[in-house]
Amino acid sequence: MAGLFDKQAEIYVEARPTYPKEWYSKLAALTPQHSLAWDVGTGNGQAALGLSEHYEQVVASDISEAQLKHAIQHPRVRYIHTPTSISDDEMVNLIGGGHENSVDLITVAEAVHWFDLPKFYSLAKRLLRKPGGIIAVWAYNRMLVNPDFDPVFDRFRENSIPFTHPNSKYVRAAYKTLPFPFESVGLGREGEPITVEIPKECSFQVVERMLRSYSAVTRAKDQGVDLLPEEVIKEFQRAWGGHDLVRSFKYEAFMLVGKL
Ligand SMILES: C[S@@+](CC[C@H](N)C(=O)[O-])C[C@H]1O[C@@H](n2cnc3c(N)ncnc32)[C@H](O)[C@@H]1O
Repeated sequence: MAGLFDKQAEIYVEARPTYPKEWYSKLAALTPQHSLAWDVGTGNGQAALGLSEHYEQVVASDISEAQLKHAIQHPRVRYIHTPTSISDDEMVNLIGGGHENSVDLITVAEAVHWFDLPKFYSLAKRLLRKPGGIIAVWAYNRMLVNPDFDPVFDRFRENSIPFTHPNSKYVRAAYKTLPFPFESVGLGREGEPITVEIPKECSFQVVERMLRSYSAVTRAKDQGVDLLPEEVIKEFQRAWGGHDLVRSFKYEAFMLVGKL
């Protein structure tokens, strides 16, 4: 699984969206203490950086060393490589310094659907502070640009389906089917995520890199299929309005927040 993300690591850092600052303030306001946050599946640390403004320490973990190599450094963020072979007890050592009940906030941005969910949730329950610990998971799927671009993007997503990992079904269903065994705190609950938006401003050049960073594109390429041939890129570019044109647009996102 890590290999799937290794290949896109370099383009991730520039092309993938960062999340609105208000999300972190809102989540931080839910935890009574602000000692330790854990960003899981951190990639290049997009969410870890946001958390560092609110927590004394942020541990940011990922199974992909290549992703971590491109992570954005910050004095309060400690990146750790956590291959799936690591036992839960070792994870408690690495994340909580050997202490269960030590993590104030766990975030998983655009990643929880890749995890072994029962295993992850059981570890999260050990590590979350009791009472007071909060877990938040979110993801995004559609780009909302304009009436010309959006159908091209939706067609690209349709064509990608045969090459998506089975777990991508949770993203396609906007996390409505994602198991989330936590008590609601008013920001979604299992089966009923809240809908949120991620604003982004960039040129088509960056959008093209973002499209190329999709795991389905890598999986298709491994099977000899190009989901982004020249004519599709041209169609995207035309609908965007030109290669260098900078546009503001939104990603449609969904979030579940809970406590024990
Ligand atoms: C789509 S990226 C998201 C990265 C970042 N959180 C973001 O918001 O852009 C998914 C990340 O999850 C990581 N990942 C996948 N399975 C994982 C697992 N079991 N444990 C930890 N990280 C995992 C991948 O290596 C990858 O960096």
